[in-house]
Amino acid sequence: MLTTSEANRVNKRGKVLSVLLDEMRANPIGVVGSPSDTTEITIDILESAEAQRIRGQMVYLVLPHDGCRIAVIGQISRVETQNRWHQDMAFRGIIKRQGSLPHLSERADVRTATLTVQAAFTIDVDERDEEFCREDMLGTSPGTGARVYAVRDEVLSALLERHKDELVYLGNVFGTPVKMPFSLRHFGKGAGGAGEAYHIGVFGKTGSGKSGLAAYVLLAYARHKQMGLLFIVPQGQFSSDRDLPFPLHLALRRAGREVRVYKLATQVRLREDASQFAELLRKANFYRFVGIKNPENQEIAVEVVYACVRKALTEAKAKIDTAPADLMRTVLTLLVEDSKALERIYTGKERREQLAERFRSLLSDPDDFRDAEILWQTALDLFQKVDSKGNERTPLWNIVSSLIAGASETDSQPIVFLDISGEGTAFKDDEEIKALLLKEIATALDVEGGKAFQQGRRLNCLVALDEAHRYVRAYTRGDDASEMAQLTKKFVDAVRTTRKYGLGYMFITQTLASLHREIIGQLRLNAFGFGLTMGSELGQLEEIVGDPEALSLYKSFVDPQSNRQFPFMFTGPASPLSFTGMPLFVQMFTKFDEFAAANPFVGGSGEAHGENGNGTVPVPFTTSNGFESVELFQKTRSADFD
Ligand SMILES: Nc1ncnc2c1ncn2[C@@H]1O[C@H](COP(=O)(O)OP(=O)(O)OP(=O)(O)O)[C@@H](O)[C@H]1O
Ligand SMILES: [Mg+2]
Repeated sequence: MLTTSEANRVNKRGKVLSVLLDEMRANPIGVVGSPSDTTEITIDILESAEAQRIRGQMVYLVLPHDGCRIAVIGQISRVETQNRWHQDMAFRGIIKRQGSLPHLSERADVRTATLTVQAAFTIDVDERDEEFCREDMLGTSPGTGARVYAVRDEVLSALLERHKDELVYLGNVFGTPVKMPFSLRHFGKGAGGAGEAYHIGVFGKTGSGKSGLAAYVLLAYARHKQMGLLFIVPQGQFSSDRDLPFPLHLALRRAGREVRVYKLATQVRLREDASQFAELLRKANFYRFVGIKNPENQEIAVEVVYACVRKALTEAKAKIDTAPADLMRTVLTLLVEDSKALERIYTGKERREQLAERFRSLLSDPDDFRDAEILWQTALDLFQKVDSKGNERTPLWNIVSSLIAGASETDSQPIVFLDISGEGTAFKDDEEIKALLLKEIATALDVEGGKAFQQGRRLNCLVALDEAHRYVRAYTRGDDASEMAQLTKKFVDAVRTTRKYGLGYMFITQTLASLHREIIGQLRLNAFGFGLTMGSELGQLEEIVGDPEALSLYKSFVDPQSNRQFPFMFTGPASPLSFTGMPLFVQMFTKFDEFAAANPFVGGSGEAHGENGNGTVPVPFTTSNGFESVELFQKTRSADFD
């Protein structure tokens, strides 16, 4: 006999159970079959559901558990048809002749599905007889015959009521119209915080929707005002809102955030450092142009030119950020007159004299001089307060530290887009210069992060790097002195150390093979889009995901080019539904309206309003090209803050 309170626990139907067991709305898919255990449940599909799309469906079942109930949620990864008559050798002869078995083909089919358990929630009543619901695990395998239903939005809302303030929706559960709940936590403590930083990876072949996903993820993180976001973008896509599924900058501003954009080509300068300038001259091909071709000689030329630059600057009482216009002429003149310096570059007399002659002709031939100056200026512009084109430039270090310099951990931080495309400059396609810059950024973050940490603060900052494969190498060889190799080392190091400062990195790249294994090993949250199906990629994915059923569902993704759907498999703590570690399968929203309707914090009502009430301008969203927003955004871009 059950006592009254025990009977209450089992029979009481509060809000959650009423939703879950609502016979009118529930769509039964099947019943628990055999064999089933606590992580994988066999489901016998009901005839009424046979024609439905079952694979990928998210389903739930409610079971008696420890004197109360437990709701189990999972995704159907595999469906199988069996028909024993079709397996019988005698009947296969008939099939061969007639094409089917009368009364047995199709009718005698049995469909079995495999459900991978994703999450479980105990539904119980407390002392005050109030229903509550909490994450749990399935303590025993389910009994056969229990009904399995398709998940609905209201089922997930009821189960995740406790998390409702932190839920964001980026898309639908793969192959269903149900919204997938995510919780993308900031890196600080307190409401909505994970209490620590984590690193993120986004992978998928070109066109799989990684940048689109990154835009949505960024907007989702943007709800955490205390979180600084730095988005490093290798082409104009993010800094100008072009070719994203929606105008991101505008959406961020409408969510009440301050957005700043800096273009490396015209708005950013490097630390005042003449030796780095001399080094950059090498990357800009200046030494090659003036006749020093051999890498070893170039290396010495860097030192020699550095010494001359310093001398010239001291004489002019200037620094590299305010270098006089005739700096190159002065340096070349100094070099021609300094035989010791030339001797360091070329010990052989003949070569040395050739070089001096080359410098002399450069100084006397205006056309030649101008060509050299273009290369010189490419490097110099990156250090100047006001560059040769009249652009005012903000120090990179300031840009980085402004992200993390909030007076307190709850103050609103800016969102910064750093466009390193170099459009319109001579180093447009020079990945080495960009790698050097990224290294500078990573160093600045590291140093500032370390400082803040010593002061007992944490950064709460996410740095996203789109198209990481262009700058980061998969391997670092000891003898590789390239900027890309050094940057890779820097990142390998950073992903290990910066987490404790509250600094997380997001690497967006096309293949797993393109990212250093040590970096991949440090990624906690991953999103895998279409296309990692080549042998080695799949092998590595298998290592990360583990579950073969999940992998087979991943393999069923269709190329977005054919249907404009953008499916992703998420692993790691992306959602309150993923606490068992099973991957989640999501179809990204393809219309901004869907995202806005699901996530009220972005101000999707059609009226613009910042959460902080700072009066953002009401502006309509544009369609895909986002030009209108670019213009608006550029008008309101905050001035440089030197
Ligand atoms: N969720 C989405 N909804 C609608 N359109 C999208 C979505 N995601 C991406 N797209 C569009 O699909 C195209 C390709 O997507 P995207 O640029 O994100 O690919 P990618 O994976 O970043 O490719 P690459 O590796 O070449 O950078 C773009 O035109 C983009 O606007
Ligand atoms: Mg992209």
